[in-house]
Amino acid sequence: MSATATEKAPFSTTDSFPLLGTDYVELYVGNSRQSALFYQACMGFQPLAYAGLSTGLKDRESYVLVQDKIRLVLTSPLRANTEIGRLHDLHGDTVRCVALWVEDATVAFETAVARGATPVMSPTAVKDEHGTCVRAQIQSFGDTVHEFVERKNYRGPFLPGYTAWAPAYQPEPVGLKYIDHMVSNVAEGDMNKWVQWYADVMDFKQLISFDDKDISTKYTALMSKVMSNGNGRVKFPINEPAPGLKKSQIDEYLEFHHGPGIQHIAVATDDIISTVTALRDRGIEFLRVPENYYDTLLDRVGDIDEDLSPLRELGILVDRDDEGYLLQIFTKPVQPRPTVFFEIIQRKGATSFGKGNFKALFEAIEREQAVRGTL
Ligand code: FE2
Repeated sequence: MSATATEKAPFSTTDSFPLLGTDYVELYVGNSRQSALFYQACMGFQPLAYAGLSTGLKDRESYVLVQDKIRLVLTSPLRANTEIGRLHDLHGDTVRCVALWVEDATVAFETAVARGATPVMSPTAVKDEHGTCVRAQIQSFGDTVHEFVERKNYRGPFLPGYTAWAPAYQPEPVGLKYIDHMVSNVAEGDMNKWVQWYADVMDFKQLISFDDKDISTKYTALMSKVMSNGNGRVKFPINEPAPGLKKSQIDEYLEFHHGPGIQHIAVATDDIISTVTALRDRGIEFLRVPENYYDTLLDRVGDIDEDLSPLRELGILVDRDDEGYLLQIFTKPVQPRPTVFFEIIQRKGATSFGKGNFKALFEAIEREQAVRGTL
């Protein structure tokens, strides 16, 4: 599709940094080959593309998986003393890159840098027999980077340099549709700095904020602000720890991750009961809130379309705002360190993030922390 004025019409005229959506999320992992199998077998992702020794790379291997609009890239180093290996040693399995799909990567990069972003990779045209992509990167919090991907002149499976990957093993998807939001954890006192950075660099607007009175339990607290791009397709809540009696889940993340980074990737489904049933049956483990959460649920959220019993059985949470309600559930961390996890979310009108569930949820995390000895 070529760029035309009409295709840009959905963007508000006041959005000075138009994004078409999230392009891909790259994780640095210890064993990309085995992680790819996890995301296929347990989470229903489909094999899409591969790059490694057989495609001419010398230092890394990457598997690309897709489920509807969600693309994950799983990368591991092939050699000692690489930058990827250094970052993996420091952070464990971690989100390295949140790539954003843009109409013009050069304009995006130059605009971002002019507004104060630190460049990582200048706009680079990469091509193969399927066409040309332009890629550019800037630094965000910690070792996280944003890539701008321009792919209007590209028809290949993923990006130039990647070959189609079509193994015999292709388990069914579980109904994950798109990335709803991605949450980061930053150090105490840094939340406002990064809120301002997204506002300055990419013209994000603050949707909502939560302080430690909204998000606290008897023991731990955190603060959070939600930033959104102009068309609402990219939303980044940013958390920082707040003082509490015990070590919060954010402190625990920052300790084990050795610095700020992506805490969770929230993925949307149109049918959370069938999606979570499939994920559970394939071995994904979720945080559980106490049974009594469900005793008063309908008093709190009013009528909902779903039967209570499968929600109770699966541990799915419900919250309501002025516009509707949402259903959500959180996985346990998906690597040895208590860092990155996934949220599964189904929105039925609600545009918020489940504030009514924060307390029950953070108490559930505290119980996990207590088992880990990190509370
Ligand atoms: Fe979330």
